Amino acid sequence: MTKTLITGGAGYIGSHAAKALASLDREVVILDSLVAGHRDFLKWGEFEEGDLADTAFLKDVFARHDISEVLHFAAFIAVGESVEKPGMYYGNNVRNTLNLLDAMMEAGVKRMVFSSTAAVYGEPVTSVIAENHPLSPLSPYAWSKRMIEQILADYGKAYGLKHICLRYFNAAGADPNNEVGERHQPETHLIPLILHAALGLRDNITIFGTDYPTPDGTCLRDYIHVTDLADAHVRALDYLGSGGDSGAFNLGNGNGFSVREIIDVAREITGKDIVVAEAARRPGDSPALVSSSIAARETLGWEPRLGDIREIIRTAWDWHQKDLA
Ligand code: UFG
Repeated sequence: MTKTLITGGAGYIGSHAAKALASLDREVVILDSLVAGHRDFLKWGEFEEGDLADTAFLKDVFARHDISEVLHFAAFIAVGESVEKPGMYYGNNVRNTLNLLDAMMEAGVKRMVFSSTAAVYGEPVTSVIAENHPLSPLSPYAWSKRMIEQILADYGKAYGLKHICLRYFNAAGADPNNEVGERHQPETHLIPLILHAALGLRDNITIFGTDYPTPDGTCLRDYIHVTDLADAHVRALDYLGSGGDSGAFNLGNGNGFSVREIIDVAREITGKDIVVAEAARRPGDSPALVSSSIAARETLGWEPRLGDIREIIRTAWDWHQKDLA
């Protein structure tokens, strides 16, 4: 039977992917250092606690489990922090991915689905971004993901590694059964912060920039439900498992929502009067990031099922009320 190793499986998206695979009765091994991941998110599969920096540990994991394929989520994800501490980001994200790849090659594991990001595109030059949009990362975080994409291509040529890079737009929402959800320390993402304000855990939500060239002056983002992301990972694994070619796919709903629109929907869902403060633009933010996900739909047969922004925010609200109670 196919056994899937999930690095970062105790994190936000990794735990949803673990649930998706386990619910199909697939065997899962989660590898997580628990530096950013959460022990209470370990609800599915076997668990190996350790760090990708530890090459002896990695070798041992591959020796003890008959792994067929890898979902690679483990990474640092904070854009601003990556600008301040680039070495930490290149070390954890790039060098440790090399450790993982070398352990995979040694064990003869030749399929990986990699957690990439829309941030590899940088400043958009078209209103809707397809996979052939120029790649121009703006931060060490985004560069680390871009570099890994290149490394995967090179391992493909040299060693026959088959890989899919999934470039997420804005991951949001939580498991509809409320078993796992979003929990970052510190939290920097828009929807969780709005919901923290709705719960009274912060005084307000600060809008970073109200003078963008967008309809209401605030940034547009394409929010995609984490359960739809998890489903795309399962499809990408199966695509590679049935002989599909390596490639990169965008994952988004194709709709741009402004920061103000998101706050308005959150007010409606929560019934709370969320106080807004306005501040200057956050360095490195693009005015608009909206995806074309036609390729994922056509090649992977992927179709977002929780694409309604109200559903995304409702599931996030259910989760945050439980998690922060
Ligand atoms: N925003 C605010 N106030 C906040 C937080 C965010 O106005 O307190 C705005 C941002 O300026 C941005 C939008 O809300 O316009 C979304 O911001 P997020 O921080 O939620 O997400 P990003 O669009 O910055 O996402 C980026 C990359 C992802 C990457 C992520 C890192 O696109 O690929 O940062 O966590 F994963």
